[in-house]
Amino acid sequence: MSLQTEAVRRLSIDYPIIQGPFGGGISTVELVAAVSNRGGLGSFGAHIVAPEDIGTLADRIRTETFGPFALNLWVSDHDPGGLHLSQDQFDRYFPIFAPYFDELGLEKPERPDLYHYRFEEQVDALLEARPPVFSFVFGVPSVKILAECRQRGILTAGAATTIAEAEALDVAGVDLIVATGFEAGGHRPSFLAAAEDSLMGTLALTQIIAERVKAPVIAAGGIADGRGLRAALELGAQATQIGTAFLACSESGTTDAHRALLLGDAVLETALSRSYTGRLARVIPNRLYEELQPKTDELPPFPVQGWFISKIKAAAMAANRNDLITLYSGQIAPNLRHRTVPELMDALIQQIA
Ligand SMILES: Cc1cc2nc3c(=O)[nH]c(=O)nc-3n(C[C@H](O)[C@H](O)[C@H](O)COP(=O)(O)O)c2cc1C
Repeated sequence: MSLQTEAVRRLSIDYPIIQGPFGGGISTVELVAAVSNRGGLGSFGAHIVAPEDIGTLADRIRTETFGPFALNLWVSDHDPGGLHLSQDQFDRYFPIFAPYFDELGLEKPERPDLYHYRFEEQVDALLEARPPVFSFVFGVPSVKILAECRQRGILTAGAATTIAEAEALDVAGVDLIVATGFEAGGHRPSFLAAAEDSLMGTLALTQIIAERVKAPVIAAGGIADGRGLRAALELGAQATQIGTAFLACSESGTTDAHRALLLGDAVLETALSRSYTGRLARVIPNRLYEELQPKTDELPPFPVQGWFISKIKAAAMAANRNDLITLYSGQIAPNLRHRTVPELMDALIQQIA
């Protein structure tokens, strides 16, 4: 089986290994550079980065690596009702979170004008910054944006959780399609049907999509070693996107406590839940999840839910508490073995040699 696939060639990388981007402030320049410097593609999840900071971010990555890298955004920046909230709506949602604010000694926050940066402004900044790869989730960018990418030599990679989403990305002319199975850690980036109705596994999704689209397919979800990587290529993928195994590495921006959970027995079970952000994500069950999961129907929409939770998380982290922070993990976590990017990359490369 050749490892020099069309996707590897297009991405100008040495191995069919993409480090999945992490949103929510847990991507780091160090992680991206460590992966790109070892022949994979590092990716930075920039969906909560201010438009005016995206250029500087790309410059910082370029000072740490000569290799290609991806910047990642979320195409859809709010769910219905999640763009603006009246004071009345804000006050009606707050009691869900008030017990945690009280427990952590936090005041009730002021209602903000905006809960999330607008994708349109972020993508303008990204085009200006010209990263080698623009990867995205939760939708298909406009014809104009995709044309701009082509003109500027920026490769595009979009996530699909269903066959229909893969076909939509392909028809739009997206360069690479990331077949994202429900095993994956983080959000289920569905955009045509509800995430709960888009639960295909990586095994089926990769094989089917690879036969139906023109673009090279990248398999994501449940891959953490050379066996998984080879299996994905065998099923028709041309590269793999690995998230949870890189999240557990010391170069990622998560907490040591989260890393320790990922490398321990706490991740024998994960759950899909809207409790952290209002969008469905694979998480490690903790108190925040246990208490909010039964209230799923009462929670505010994305990104408002995530905004309230970010205040709780920041205070809980400062207090060194795991029960009230957001903890993500993919299903493959019990098989994680490596604590640094060089260890993980060397093992992957050796196992597929
Ligand atoms: C904490 C966390 C945050 C993530 N954030 C993003 C994101 O912002 N954008 C994105 O395209 N993928 C995101 N992902 C998905 C990963 O990039 C990758 O596709 C996925 O983790 C692969 O599955 P695995 O976890 O089984 O390896 C995230 C994953 C995790 C675990």
